[in-house]
Amino acid sequence: MTVSSAWQKEIFSAIQPDEGKIVSADGQRLAVYRDEKGRLQAVSPVCTHLGCMVEWNNAEKHWDCKCHGSLFKPDGEPFAGPASEPLERKIVDEEEAPDESSRSQAAAQSRAGGRSS
Ligand code: FES
Repeated sequence: MTVSSAWQKEIFSAIQPDEGKIVSADGQRLAVYRDEKGRLQAVSPVCTHLGCMVEWNNAEKHWDCKCHGSLFKPDGEPFAGPASEPLERKIVDEEEAPDESSRSQAAAQSRAGGRSS
């Protein structure tokens, strides 16, 4: 999934390095972690044990499932509790998101009949 709109870009940019958040984008919920180098890792927030929603544990830096105690690393790999399968990986491409200025230029060019100034 490409972070394709300004509001999505804003949601993702609010995630600080070494922090995870549950976000909604393009009609789906994602568990998104930004690593210390600023790269995003996204997984499904649906626990692979019995389907509860995981939450980010900011003190211990992992995803927690409160239903039966499964714990997942930031990349979704399970390391404790009954879940044995990783959280489903999602592709999030923050780099290709158009910023507001390029979208405004494209809109202006469109209104001018495709001519660039
Ligand atoms: S549903 Fe997550 S540990 Fe059971």
